[in-house]
Amino acid sequence: MSMNKLSNRLQSQPGGTPLSGGDGAVTETSGIHIENLRKVYGKGDNSVEALKNVSMSVSPGEVVGLVGPSGSGKSTLLKCLGAIIEPTAGRMTLGNDVIYDDGWRVKDLRALRRDRIGFIFQAPYLIPFLDVTDNVALLPMLAGRPNSVARARALELLTALDVQHRARAEPTQLSGGEQQRVSIARALANRPPVILADEPTAPLDSERALGVMRILNQMARQFQAAIIVVTHDEKIIPTFNRIYHIRDGQTVEEAGEGRALD
Ligand SMILES: Nc1ncnc2c1ncn2[C@@H]1O[C@H](COP(=O)(O)OP(=O)(O)O)[C@@H](O)[C@H]1O
Ligand SMILES: [Mg+2]
Repeated sequence: MSMNKLSNRLQSQPGGTPLSGGDGAVTETSGIHIENLRKVYGKGDNSVEALKNVSMSVSPGEVVGLVGPSGSGKSTLLKCLGAIIEPTAGRMTLGNDVIYDDGWRVKDLRALRRDRIGFIFQAPYLIPFLDVTDNVALLPMLAGRPNSVARARALELLTALDVQHRARAEPTQLSGGEQQRVSIARALANRPPVILADEPTAPLDSERALGVMRILNQMARQFQAAIIVVTHDEKIIPTFNRIYHIRDGQTVEEAGEGRALD
């Protein structure tokens, strides 16, 4: 299937409302705020209180760490933030918008996920039959951008991430590091005010892990994104200025070492 057909088909699905912001505009927000967030899985005797009372604030341009042992609620928090699961109580705001206040406060959760949240995973999950440019351009196309505009934006991001020379390559032709950069470009493609990264450096050696953190910090500044990095990677923990420790579903904020990356 050609890219045009693919994007036309996907655009014509219900819920594909275009973004309100203009092309090229840096998203202006005052970041993300979470207050007293609670998440209970299941009901009655079998229920699990995964998040008891989580509060967190991340400013545009900031990269914070979210650190905690297995089972402490990190993935649950990311999924609530990404509007993938519904919290049980509390409040979340994104910029000037209340997203959740003891119930969703936005009508179109699909558009929220697509346009305002970027995800970076441990594995790049690039689409194998699309070239690098179209892997990055797909999300803006789905958000209603003309293909030429989406591709121009993709190229701009690939250039910012120093992989523009691989723009026409297929994902399988790239090195692991290049794939990671492309997946970061993809997460930025709709200029989301929030980026959620789940263990993005776990499989990488020290130098590459620090390289990813350098890129995330640059991108946070350049695109004024608020970035949350879930990690227990000792190699990158010293790079954060602020860290939220999560334990038993509760967060405690701590100052990080903020070790310089460049
Ligand atoms: N879908 C689910 N149903 C029931 N319990 C869950 C579900 N997902 C996670 N949990 C429980 O919630 C708690 C937090 O899990 P999780 O957010 O995955 O922690 P982490 O990502 O820090 O390892 C754990 O006790 C886990 O077993
Ligand atoms: Mg997890």
